[in-house]
Amino acid sequence: MVSAKLPLIFALLSSATLISVAPPVRAARLPSSVRVRGAGEFLKNIGEELANLLNGSRDYSNEGQSNSTRRGLSSSSTSGGGDGGVKENHVAPHVSLGIGTPAMNLTLVFDTTSDLLWTQCQPCLNCVAQAGDMYDPNKSQTFANLTNIYNYTYSKHAFTSGYFATETFALGNVTVPNITFGCGTRNQGYYDNVAGVFGVGRGGGVSSLLNQLGLDRFSYCFSSSGAPGSSTVFLGDSAKLATNTTTPAASTPMVADPVLKSGYFVKLVGVTVGATRVDVAGAAERGRALVIDSTSPVTVLDEATYAQVRRAMVAQLAPLKEANASASTDVGLDLCFELAAGGAKPTPPNVTMTLHFDGGAGDLVLTPANYLTEDSASRLRCLTMMPSSSNGIPVLGSWALLDTLVLYDLAKNVVSFQRLDCTAFLAATG
Ligand SMILES: *[C@@H]1O[C@H](CO)[C@@H](O)[C@H](O)[C@H]1NC(C)=O
Ligand SMILES: *[C@@H]1O[C@H](CO)[C@@H](O)[C@H](O)[C@H]1NC(C)=O
Ligand SMILES: *[C@@H]1O[C@H](CO)[C@@H](O)[C@H](O)[C@H]1NC(C)=O
Ligand SMILES: *[C@@H]1O[C@H](CO)[C@@H](O)[C@H](O)[C@H]1NC(C)=O
Ligand SMILES: *[C@@H]1O[C@H](CO)[C@@H](O)[C@H](O)[C@H]1NC(C)=O
Ligand SMILES: *[C@@H]1O[C@H](CO)[C@@H](O)[C@H](O)[C@H]1NC(C)=O
Ligand SMILES: *[C@@H]1O[C@H](CO)[C@@H](O)[C@H](O)[C@H]1NC(C)=O
Ligand SMILES: *[C@@H]1O[C@H](CO)[C@@H](O)[C@H](O)[C@H]1NC(C)=O
Ligand SMILES: *[C@@H]1O[C@H](CO)[C@@H](O)[C@H](O)[C@H]1NC(C)=O
Ligand SMILES: *[C@@H]1O[C@H](CO)[C@@H](O)[C@H](O)[C@H]1NC(C)=O
Ligand SMILES: *[C@@H]1O[C@H](CO)[C@@H](O)[C@H](O)[C@H]1NC(C)=O
Repeated sequence: MVSAKLPLIFALLSSATLISVAPPVRAARLPSSVRVRGAGEFLKNIGEELANLLNGSRDYSNEGQSNSTRRGLSSSSTSGGGDGGVKENHVAPHVSLGIGTPAMNLTLVFDTTSDLLWTQCQPCLNCVAQAGDMYDPNKSQTFANLTNIYNYTYSKHAFTSGYFATETFALGNVTVPNITFGCGTRNQGYYDNVAGVFGVGRGGGVSSLLNQLGLDRFSYCFSSSGAPGSSTVFLGDSAKLATNTTTPAASTPMVADPVLKSGYFVKLVGVTVGATRVDVAGAAERGRALVIDSTSPVTVLDEATYAQVRRAMVAQLAPLKEANASASTDVGLDLCFELAAGGAKPTPPNVTMTLHFDGGAGDLVLTPANYLTEDSASRLRCLTMMPSSSNGIPVLGSWALLDTLVLYDLAKNVVSFQRLDCTAFLAATG
């Protein structure tokens, strides 16, 4: 459930505002590549208000668009699957882009698990707090109303509804006309003062953003440093692995999920904590599918796997003293360790955690920076992993992927992970 305190992880990601920059353009109408460059990211204090969180856990099994009244515009999942889903809070990296003519700036949540682009529209009947001006169709020369209504649900308390329209968008320095998007006039849930969501999930419908842009690849690198300009999203041909590095990329097939159709899933076959190997149940199915969710800082594993990972962690991080359960619960996570009161913080032993993905070439090696986070308010250091509820969908969260180039190759149906210093990588790629 929603926790009483906001751990550092959420604060970091919620402030990671990305700003559009420059792409090489090739196609006449659609950008062949676009970069959305990070800037202004910084670490916030963790004494953040709870109100800054999305109201309610994301419910993947019920997520998607419902009650679409026109052909061709349906998108991701609507299948009823009970009230599964994960129980952590969701805030996410942001991207900035331009909308309309004349263009105005929008800051949107960058979401890999939904395929809809939407923003709050005036006149708004029920909107959430937004920084900056709200988009007004009447003030744009390029707005066209498709007049069909939509309602897209993220969780029990979070949804957007309104009508579809087309507009000109500025992505990086590329201007793309006639993009179908959701003009949200009734929106609920908390979106961290952002104006909507930029969904790059896989989707079949014509409202799918990636389909509209004709993109078959994208990538991102989110930095743990919080330095301005250290995180970027690449759309199109500029999305590629780093070559100027000795770090090999781990590649694994992406799999589809019948329920969360817009999600990118990868199969986890095992986890090695230090020297302890934990096999994930479901070897016959070549592992357990995890959805890669940019809006979830936390990685969620099935209970059996998590329990073994937790046990291995406690044993191998032994110099760190495990905090009591209620202290961990207060932070909103499952396993926390005590930081010394006052004095120097104990350095965690350099225990690596390797995520083994299906495909043989799929080992992603994490260091403590990718699985531990500090909550200085409660003086705890916590594991950024949680067990899923019995019917929940396991998640590969964004904390584990900080300082990792994540490349989605939709043509080859492969996801690649390459550990990098995002700041150095982005400096080198200009
Ligand atoms: C976008 O920016 C890049 C780099 O700054 C530049 O090379 C490119 O020509 C620009 N494209 C347009 C359409 O302005
Ligand atoms: C979350 O949503 C529920 C139901 O809409 C509402 O009762 C509650 O006050 C909301 N909480 C916050 C913090 O907005
Ligand atoms: C769809 O929306 C319309 C208008 O809001 C409503 O009358 C109808 O009952 C809805 N249908 C479903 C299946 O929810
Ligand atoms: C939009 O953001 C860009 C980049 O930060 C900035 O150069 C531009 O002035 C902004 N435009 C408006 C209308 O605020
Ligand atoms: C925008 O235009 C529509 C149709 O032209 C009109 O009905 C509406 O009142 C206008 N809204 C505002 C806020 O000006
Ligand atoms: C667009 O169409 C919808 C559905 O007919 C309508 O509710 C809305 O007011 C229209 N918006 C504008 C700006 O014309
Ligand atoms: C959209 O759907 C949600 C539930 O999925 C519902 O609570 C909400 O009232 C709907 N909004 C509109 C405007 O129909
Ligand atoms: C925009 O797209 C729609 C649907 O794809 C098409 O019918 C329309 O002609 C396009 N308009 C422009 C200005 O390209
Ligand atoms: C749990 O730990 C917290 C913080 O270390 C402490 O304040 C609290 O008294 C402990 N509770 C129990 C039941 O030991
Ligand atoms: C931790 O171990 C990894 C893998 O052996 C190594 O690459 C990294 O440099 C180590 N980090 C520190 C701080 O020692
Ligand atoms: C490649 O990496 C090295 C060391 O990290 C750096 O000095 C060099 O400038 C890089 N070259 C390019 C082309 O990025």
